[in-house]
Parts: sequence; structure tokens; C-alpha cells
Amino acid sequence: LDGIGPVILSGVELAGRIRSRLASEIASTGGRPPGLAVVMVGDDPASSVYVSSKEKACARIGMAGSVLRLRGDSTQEEALAAVRALNEDPAVDGILCQLPLPAHISPSAVSSAIDPSKDVDGLHPENVGRLWRGEEGLFPCTPLGIMALLGEYRIGIEGVRVVVIGRSDIVGKPIAAMMLHANATVTLAHSHTRELQNLCREADVLVAAVGRPGMITREFLKQGSVVIDVGISRTSDGLRGDVDFGSASHVCSAVTPVPGGVGPLTIALLLSNTVKAWRKHLA
Ligand SMILES: NC(=O)c1ccc[n+]([C@@H]2O[C@H](COP(=O)([O-])OP(=O)(O)OC[C@H]3O[C@@H](n4cnc5c(N)ncnc54)[C@H](OP(=O)(O)O)[C@@H]3O)[C@@H](O)[C@H]2O)c1
Repeated sequence: LDGIGPVILSGVELAGRIRSRLASEIASTGGRPPGLAVVMVGDDPASSVYVSSKEKACARIGMAGSVLRLRGDSTQEEALAAVRALNEDPAVDGILCQLPLPAHISPSAVSSAIDPSKDVDGLHPENVGRLWRGEEGLFPCTPLGIMALLGEYRIGIEGVRVVVIGRSDIVGKPIAAMMLHANATVTLAHSHTRELQNLCREADVLVAAVGRPGMITREFLKQGSVVIDVGISRTSDGLRGDVDFGSASHVCSAVTPVPGGVGPLTIALLLSNTVKAWRKHLA
């Protein structure tokens, strides 16, 4: 591959097409637009950026986006009460709680309080169970985006060996479930995994969701593998993924860039989950 380089799996165009499709559906349905409410506790600067980009993304496709800002010293009970009020609000189809939360508020208590039919981050135990059982439900947006990207580039994963590094509830575990349902053979690796490099070198598809910039070098990769870089870290050189792109591109056949790979799809699939919830609420 030297001199030719890997296929760059861009998420930008696909995300754009998903957004236009949603915008036309909203415009042609008319009536009450889909509503997405984001709960944010405290004023973490990175979270503020993510929250306002979600708000703008909603507005651009005709969706009603709102942000409920709670003070950083709000109690867990106050956060849960805010979620319950949104559960009751008929103008709200999707609710998500921006992470990270302050240490005194349990993220799982908050996600368990969200009405499962409004749980657009797919973190409520009912939706987690539905995902693992292969049933219909609302599932986490980043893994949905990865599956959409693989589909877009016609990368079949049936029977292939997938290694996922990272076991978070929002990325690692749900992408493992989705890949499993798509008939891949999946291994979930994490910080206690021994001989990680050797394990990764057996992967036809490697998903890195760690948050350690440049960690994945060519030594982790099988020749011709597909590399999905979920990591986003802010460094003095700007946003960096988990994959050392320069090194990896000598070995892999396809790789997602950071930025412009998985990131744009995450927001597009969040909008898509909200529209899905809206359709069900209208029915
Ligand atoms: N592109 C997007 O839209 C998007 C969406 C969500 C997240 N992200 C990014 O993806 C990254 C991961 O986020 P997250 O929330 O999924 O994960 P997280 O909760 O931060 O967890 C990181 C995972 O990486 C594992 N890990 C840490 N160091 C490791 C090492 N040296 N070797 C192997 N595994 C290691 C941890 O293992 P343990 O479980 O053993 O601690 C953990 O499972 C972050 O950079 C985040 O910003 C991007």
C-alpha cells in the first residue's frame, strides 16, 4: 500500500445526507417538530461546546433543541427532578444528559430516570437490554454512526475478527453488541488486557475508543485491516484521535480521520434517534 495509502472513511458527506433526509421528513410531516432536550449540569467548557453544537444541529434541520442548564452544585435529586419534568413534557421527544456529570451525581441514576422512549443516547437499562437481545430500541449514537459508515463504504463484517479497545457504555460495549449482531467475532479489550498489540494485530477491523492520542501505531495493526478511530483528544496540535495516522496508514487498508470521521456521524445519529422517537410519539 506504500505510496497509495488507505481509503479515508469520511463521515462528513454521509452525515450531511442523513441530516438532509431528516430535514425533509420533518418539513413534509408538518405539525409539532421533534424536540430534543439536553440536560447539562455545571459549566465544563468542552461540554458547553458540544451542547451548543447539538443545539445548532437541531435548529438547522427544523428540530426544537433546548438546553436545560443546572448549576454545578445541583443535587442528584434536582437533576432527576429535571429529567422527570422532561419525561412529562409532550414537546420533548429526546432527552440526553451531557457527560461528564459532577462526581456527586451518578450517571447511571440519571440515565435510568429517562423515559426509555425518549432515551436518545440509548443508556437506559431497557434500551441496553434491547440492544443485547437484538430487539428494536434506541441505541447509542456513536456506534450507530460507525455501523452506518461501514455500510456506506460496503465494508462487510460478517465472519470477520473485530477488536474493540475501550468498554464504555456509550461506545465500546454497544459497538461490540452491534458488531456481534452483524455476525462479526468480537473481542472487547481494555486497560487490563494483556498483550494488547498482539491481540490487535489479529483484527480485521480495529475500533479504538480509548482517548489516548496516537496510541495505535502500525505495530498494532494487521496488514490490510480497517481502522475506526473513535478517540477525540484535545492536544496542543488540535484534535487528535487514538490512531497515529501517519504510522497506521502504512499498514491499514481504510481508516477514519479525526476530525471528520466518526464525530460528524455521532450528531447526525443523535438527530436521527430523536426523529425516530418523535415518529413513535406522533403515532
Ligand atoms: N467520535 C465521537 O463522536 C466520540 C463519542 C464518544 C467518545 N469519543 C471519544 O472516544 C474516546 C473514548 O471515550 P469513551 O467515553 O468511550 O471511553 P472512556 O469511558 O473514557 O473509557 C476509555 C476506555 O479505554 C480503556 N483504556 C484506557 N487506557 C487503555 C490502555 N492503555 N489500553 C487499553 N485500553 C485502555 C479503558 O479501560 P478500563 O475500562 O479498564 O478503564 C476504558 O474502557 C474519548 O477520546 C472520547 O472523547 C468520541
